[in-house]
Amino acid sequence: MKYLVALSLSFGMLSADNYGFPDPYPEVYDHCEILPLNRHGWYLHNQLRPFFQNKEIKTVVEVGVWTGNNAIYLAEMLPDEGVVFAVDHWLGSREHQDPHNGEHSLLPTLFRQFLSNVIHTGQTQKIIPVRLASVEAARKLQELHIRADLIYLDADHDYPSVIQDIETWYPLLSEGGVLCGDDWCLGGPNGDIAKAVREFGERQGLKVCAEGEFWWYE
Ligand SMILES: C[S@@+](CC[C@H](N)C(=O)[O-])C[C@H]1O[C@@H](n2cnc3c(N)ncnc32)[C@H](O)[C@@H]1O
Repeated sequence: MKYLVALSLSFGMLSADNYGFPDPYPEVYDHCEILPLNRHGWYLHNQLRPFFQNKEIKTVVEVGVWTGNNAIYLAEMLPDEGVVFAVDHWLGSREHQDPHNGEHSLLPTLFRQFLSNVIHTGQTQKIIPVRLASVEAARKLQELHIRADLIYLDADHDYPSVIQDIETWYPLLSEGGVLCGDDWCLGGPNGDIAKAVREFGERQGLKVCAEGEFWWYE
C-alpha cells in the first residue's frame, strides 16, 4: 500500500491517502501538537521478536495500541518496506473508564500521545493509525484487500470481545500468518481470553501455544 501512496504522489492521479481511514495518512502526523515521549505500555515485544527472526513479516496489525509503545517495537522489527496498521478507537478499554484506574488519566490525550510517540521514535513511515473500533477496522482492511503476516490482539479482554476479535481478524491473515495476543493468564487458566482462544483453536484445528501472558496459534 505504501507503494500505492508513493505511486499516486509521483503521478498525481490519486490523493495521497488511499486508505480512507478516519485520519488521513500520513498527514495525521503533521497536524499533531506534540506531547513529550511517554511509552506507557505492557512490554511483550520480546515474545514477538522470534516471529520476526524466523518468518518474512512485512505487514502487521496491532488491535489495541494505547500509547503505541508495542506498535513502535513492532515497527522497529520490520524491514524498511514493512507497515503496522495500528487499530484502536483510542477511547480506552472498559477498565480504563474507572477514574480510580491509574491509566484513566491518559485517556483525554491518548491519541495525541500515540501520534507523539510515533513521531519521537521516527516511525511515521511504518505506523498507519486506523482510528476505528476493531470490527469496523477489520471490515475496512478487508475492503482494501490487506492481508497481514502477523496480527496481535490486545483490545477488550472480556470473552465476547475476544472471540469476536479472533473470528473477525483470523480471515485477514496471509498464508502462514500468525494470530497472537496478550493477557493469556487474565482470569486464570479458564479465564475469558484462554477460553476464547482455545475454543476457536479447537474449531479451526489450530494448536494453541502460550508463554506467560503471550498466546499464539501455531
Ligand atoms: C491494553 S491497551 C493496548 C496496549 C498495547 N497493545 C501495548 O502493548 O502497549 C488496550 C487498548 O485497546 C483499545 N480498545 C479496546 N477495545 C477496543 C475496540 N473494541 N476497538 C478498538 N480498540 C479498542 C483501547 O482504547 C486501548 O488503547
